[in-house]
Amino acid sequence: MSEQFSLNEAIYNCRAMRRIKSDEVPEAVLLELIDAANQAPSGSNTQNARWIVVRDPKTKKALADLNRKHGAPYIAASIENPASQKQKRMLDAVVWQMDHMHEIPALIVACFDYPEQVEGLGVYRSAGSVWPGIQNLLLTARALGLGAAPTTLALRDQDAVREVLNLPETFASLCLIPVGYPIGKFGPVVRKPRAETMRFDSWT
Ligand SMILES: Cc1cc2nc3c(=O)[nH]c(=O)nc-3n(C[C@H](O)[C@H](O)[C@H](O)COP(=O)(O)O)c2cc1C
Repeated sequence: MSEQFSLNEAIYNCRAMRRIKSDEVPEAVLLELIDAANQAPSGSNTQNARWIVVRDPKTKKALADLNRKHGAPYIAASIENPASQKQKRMLDAVVWQMDHMHEIPALIVACFDYPEQVEGLGVYRSAGSVWPGIQNLLLTARALGLGAAPTTLALRDQDAVREVLNLPETFASLCLIPVGYPIGKFGPVVRKPRAETMRFDSWT
């Protein structure tokens, strides 16, 4: 890694960074992200997570169009009536990402390759064997000073994604991660306090 960053610093400062410069990311850095993703565990150690790093402008535009198609209706009601200033700031960033996704230097699509054709909810059966790699990738991106965010809206129509990326019918696409150098500053993550999210031994 080109920057010294402790694991704790990465974990506690790994915000979803949606505003990203169009400046190119060196291929060696993109490969470093995939190497980190590849170190993650998988069920029965099948290692069937697959990563498509999309840099081609036409392919990025096709994914950006899918993101807008499924994302715009999803956020429409909240944009009209945001629940808080915090949510409004997040929605502004989601809209920025929607308008600029095709200009972001790399869109990384995390997939799982099943032993047979997948459809419907079957797509998510082995999602647990892809998300640890996604988190490794996000933490490494953060440690390298790259902005990234896990997204799923563009992937709602699995067949459309398969067509755009020439994926076999055995592939499920589970997360699209736009990656590049951030516009603006990283901040610490803010989460519910532990007292709300854990108990020892049983819930009540
Ligand atoms: C499973 C999953 C799906 C997500 N899908 C999207 C998405 O489609 N679009 C998007 O802008 N962010 C998406 N996010 C990012 C979340 O909105 C973000 O992680 C959350 O708001 C926390 O943001 P923070 O880390 O900046 O506090 C997704 C995150 C996860 C874990």
